[in-house]
Amino acid sequence: MSRYKISFHEVSFGYPGAEHKAIDSIDFTLPEGRTYALVGPSGDGKTTIARLIPRFWDADSGQVTIGGIDVKDIAPEELMRNISFVFQNTRLFKTTLQENVCYGHPTASQEDVEAALEMAQCRELVDRLPNRLNTRIGIDGTYLSGGEQQRIALARAILKDAPVVVLDEATASLDVENETKIQAGISELIRDKTVLIIAHRMRTVANAEKIVVLDNGRVLEHGSPDHLKSTNGAFAHTIERQMQPTP
Ligand SMILES: Nc1ncnc2c1ncn2[C@@H]1O[C@H](COP(=O)(O)OP(=O)(O)OP(=O)(O)O)[C@@H](O)[C@H]1O
Ligand SMILES: [Mg+2]
Repeated sequence: MSRYKISFHEVSFGYPGAEHKAIDSIDFTLPEGRTYALVGPSGDGKTTIARLIPRFWDADSGQVTIGGIDVKDIAPEELMRNISFVFQNTRLFKTTLQENVCYGHPTASQEDVEAALEMAQCRELVDRLPNRLNTRIGIDGTYLSGGEQQRIALARAILKDAPVVVLDEATASLDVENETKIQAGISELIRDKTVLIIAHRMRTVANAEKIVVLDNGRVLEHGSPDHLKSTNGAFAHTIERQMQPTP
């Protein structure tokens, strides 16, 4: 099966007006059903790579393909249906929690909505709101914390159940309880999916099958966590040090 295999073939891209390319000759293949982590210093092009998959931007040269088909030749609705995106800083819509969760799957049964909320560890936060799922977010003084918003975004992605998941892990430090909850939601979300995680935490990196290490818009190293550790290259030195948990 390779319907959702994702490949970058010599992909380069620069933002309009920028002096330098944000990414330069990126080349790797993420096989269907696997989880790869993208790591590297801030500003080295990780989010940019992720944005090219659902065509928020198009490559200047080279090709991004899903199942061997250039994303430019896939109908936008099909592309959207097949990819779940969880960004670094997901913001919710100013509408009910119910609509926020159902955004990617408006015809979902209430049972499935509740199950997704459960998996994303949202039960308590929903129960605490005055009108539970009918509570309107950002209106009437009802606000959610950053961690809570992320969990709602995870519930939305879990409910959508798209075969491809692109996850830009939050860089902002979360409290331990929140991080553990989000981690549990992420594990549910990515099970059996084709997953590209932009990783900022060592735990996420260690769980990935392969790691693509970026440096200045280029792929520096590429391999399993154990392989990269044993070769004692950039991953072992720089990245691991950067990702040490703060005391
Ligand atoms: N919308 C944009 N317009 C112009 N330049 C951008 C835009 N987004 C990112 N860039 C630039 O492109 C380069 C790569 O940025 P990108 O966001 O991909 O980095 P990143 O690896 O995701 O960083 P971080 O770890 O901080 O999230 C940077 O030089 C950045 O300033
Ligand atoms: Mg980023």
